[in-house]
Amino acid sequence: MKIKSQHLVPLPPLTVEQQDALRASIEAEGLRVPIDVDEQGNILDGEHRFDIVGQTDLVRVVSGLSEAEKRAYAFQSNLARRNMSPAQWREIQPHLKEIALALAEEGSTQEEIGRRLGVAQNTVSAWFGTPIIGPDNRRTRPDARVKIPREEHDSIVERLEEGETQEQVAADYGVGQQAISQIATKAKDTKKRKEARPKKGMYDHVTLLHGNMEDLVDGKFDLVVTDPPYLIDANYDSVVELEWDRSENPLKQIRSWLSVIQPHLSDEYNLFWFCSPSMAADTELVFRELELSVQSRIVWPKRSLPKGRKGSDRFLSTWDMILHAGNRPLNFPKEWTDAWFDVQLRQDEDGNLSCFEIPLTTSKKEPRVHETQKPEELMRRLVEFGSYPGDRILDPFAGGGTTGVVTPTDREVVLIEKETKYVRAIEKRLSIRRGS
Ligand SMILES: C[S@@+](CC[C@H](N)C(=O)[O-])C[C@H]1O[C@@H](n2cnc3c(N)ncnc32)[C@H](O)[C@@H]1O
Repeated sequence: MKIKSQHLVPLPPLTVEQQDALRASIEAEGLRVPIDVDEQGNILDGEHRFDIVGQTDLVRVVSGLSEAEKRAYAFQSNLARRNMSPAQWREIQPHLKEIALALAEEGSTQEEIGRRLGVAQNTVSAWFGTPIIGPDNRRTRPDARVKIPREEHDSIVERLEEGETQEQVAADYGVGQQAISQIATKAKDTKKRKEARPKKGMYDHVTLLHGNMEDLVDGKFDLVVTDPPYLIDANYDSVVELEWDRSENPLKQIRSWLSVIQPHLSDEYNLFWFCSPSMAADTELVFRELELSVQSRIVWPKRSLPKGRKGSDRFLSTWDMILHAGNRPLNFPKEWTDAWFDVQLRQDEDGNLSCFEIPLTTSKKEPRVHETQKPEELMRRLVEFGSYPGDRILDPFAGGGTTGVVTPTDREVVLIEKETKYVRAIEKRLSIRRGS
């Protein structure tokens, strides 16, 4: 029989790689699958093979098909072998729909049409704009047990982005609209999370060291900005006990930490040291004893009630102290701002002053990774006012790594943290690896 090449259906062309692979396979093993033709020799399936081998005796005649059924046959046999992209699939859908209508006019049921075209019956139902018809010809609800495979999610999101409604897509998959809405929400959240994640290399100027600051501080630093354990007085500040935030002899401990840092201060330096209201006076005495000259006593107002504080015999403390020692001019911006005041308040767009907010667990912009994490905006001020381009900065009690997050890229910063879980949190927050 003479084979006639004709394009019954508009199938996406083979890629060059697919063509090469088909040619190589035919050259090596000959034609293994016959070319399907109708009674007149028109190709139903095997156009690409025919292009390579030309006339051949290896044909199979498929008889008794109507015109619509022939086109369905051509699609079905090709689609079954292809991995089509969502874009190709969308291109082909209108043709499939047209054949589906022709088959329906010839009397095929939706189930038969689905089988002939190699598509789900739900897809056929959606084309006809009718609810899904069950095998007993009764209307059925979308099946809640139908689970859309993970690998379909991207193409679903793509379809929604191109303007298809959630209802349309849900009908194609035979699921409720809620299932599609969940996929869309999940995709949006993943995208947001990815965008919030720092790009690799963004924090190349940050060195993270895991261990005790007593063993790791090395070299000279122009600025030390740090928020050490407050060694809190449980009666005064808080009754929440954090393992690392206690000491039998707080002043001895603070003196010892400062003595580790002092030899590593550059000749000209600035030092910012956080402390709680109850420890501020005593800490200043230690500074004086060590001849670290205190320049400013910065107040950070924070309207959060100290958790579980006992008694009503005193005022509630709503601020922390940041002792500022040093002998180097501060790098204040040229223009006047309220940030020069020792009470640190922030100004919103309307010019109103308010406290810096402690990051909330739910904040995506400033993720909360540490129990006593400080606000980025406040830490940024300390780092920017306390240092100049080219400087080396140290935070020996890094916690969640906020000092690293806010340090400009034209400065170098070393973070030291002893707890493994916080070191991991910093690695994740800044997309960096700890150094040795
Ligand atoms: C108050 S937190 C710092 C919080 C940080 N400012 C932030 O915004 O996330 C103090 C941190 O110092 C760490 N730390 C305590 N003693 C240390 C030591 N000897 N060497 C290094 N880190 C220490 C604790 O594990 C804790 O995470």
